[in-house]
Amino acid sequence: MASSEEADVRSPPYPDPLESLPYWGHGPGEDITSLPAGWEGRVTSEGRVFFIDHNERETHWSHPVTKMKYRVQSHLSYGWQLFKDEDDAVVFVDHLEGVCSKVDPRLLNRRAFDFPEEYGIRSFNPLQHRLKPYSTADDVLKDISLQGKVAIVTGANSGLGYETARSLASHGAHVILACRDRGRGATAVNLIQKSHPRAKVEHRDLDLASLRSVRLFSEFFIASGLSLDILVCNAGLLEPSFTLTEDGLESHFAVNYLGHFYLINLLKDILSKSTLPRIVIVSSESHWYPSPKSTKLELQYLKNPNRENYNYFAAYGASKLCCILLMQELYRRHPLICTNAVHPGNFLPTGLLRRTNCMYKLLRITARPFTSSVAQAASGIVFCGAHPVMEGVSGLYMYRCSVAEPSGEAQSHGTAAALWDLSTQIIRDKMTQWGKD
Ligand SMILES: NC(=O)c1ccc[n+]([C@@H]2O[C@H](COP(=O)([O-])OP(=O)(O)OC[C@H]3O[C@@H](n4cnc5c(N)ncnc54)[C@H](OP(=O)(O)O)[C@@H]3O)[C@@H](O)[C@H]2O)c1
Repeated sequence: MASSEEADVRSPPYPDPLESLPYWGHGPGEDITSLPAGWEGRVTSEGRVFFIDHNERETHWSHPVTKMKYRVQSHLSYGWQLFKDEDDAVVFVDHLEGVCSKVDPRLLNRRAFDFPEEYGIRSFNPLQHRLKPYSTADDVLKDISLQGKVAIVTGANSGLGYETARSLASHGAHVILACRDRGRGATAVNLIQKSHPRAKVEHRDLDLASLRSVRLFSEFFIASGLSLDILVCNAGLLEPSFTLTEDGLESHFAVNYLGHFYLINLLKDILSKSTLPRIVIVSSESHWYPSPKSTKLELQYLKNPNRENYNYFAAYGASKLCCILLMQELYRRHPLICTNAVHPGNFLPTGLLRRTNCMYKLLRITARPFTSSVAQAASGIVFCGAHPVMEGVSGLYMYRCSVAEPSGEAQSHGTAAALWDLSTQIIRDKMTQWGKD
């Protein structure tokens, strides 16, 4: 049985097949408050419910009153995270609502707030901090030293990437600016060194539109012997015309998402060696619109893109949805690497919209008095990447420095897993092709 804390409690043998069990919470008596005194409900990693009788020091698959066996979903809902408290006891934290609970939230079929004190549910906001919506990246890192930390920032020669790299470096981190254009990368490094002469910054070639380039960059990085503490997946494009990369992939999907997927997978072993590794993936509210017709991700289209059905806003939205799904899947597969996604704001004064039509440009100019500066927009990226409050916090979609709720599709475990498999398959096929070249 799952819980090591209960190692001295006698476990019942041979559970039933999981699929045959009903879901907890739909029938009479399926309420955690209905358990007799001294009993407790818990959930195994696969979603099987079990009951601990602390009086007799025994565990049971069957509920002591209904005599039924149950299951729940195998994962926690979006916003919930499992922590260990100072006494090494499990605590579930809901970052979205700011509550924590000693009882597994999947067994709480009422609102957490409705439960009495003995269930260990209390208001708790680990992300409470003194940052204001207009805080800049430097405000977030005020009085924080990043000496000894190594960070990679993709697309760091302009916009949010530049501001993130500058801010991390000015607080002591060794920052590698991963840029596709050597000249623009060198200019960015010079600019940072001019304003912060002691900054440890360097640029390296990385073209996310090329899986080969991603592999070469990672090989260089691994060979350099540097450690890696913070990986910021920031680079992005918004391209009105339909273009395919050298790997035959639609550009938004390739640059904004798949290149980063590959990069993370190549560097995750190095990241895992850091004491508190973090990945920040820059997404966008555009993820709500991954298709002109639906809020669902069209995996088939990603695999076989075509010019006829191309809509650049949807292609951009789909790539940003992929970014959040990647964050969710990394959170499940690699819980020791803290991965969060960030929406930095809308119509920001960066180069992103430079190739869009007059309507977008006009919208940006009209929205300008109400939008944030680049320094403010980068605040969420450095907050997730380097602020102590975010230590150990993972699996969240942040709007700047606050937790936000992404679309239903972005929370779909099925879509996240299918996207992961598709991405792995595309890369495997490419590698097979390289082997033949
Ligand atoms: N601006 C907004 O309103 C907004 C809103 C929500 C989310 N975002 C997201 O914020 C992130 C940063 O964008 P930004 O607003 O700062 O725009 P930006 O100024 O255009 O910066 C984008 C960066 O990505 C780089 N890039 C593009 N294609 C690349 C490739 N194939 N390989 C490597 N790097 C590449 C660009 O390099 P080059 O200079 O060589 O092109 C540039 O450095 C993006 O992920 C974007 O989707 C922006």
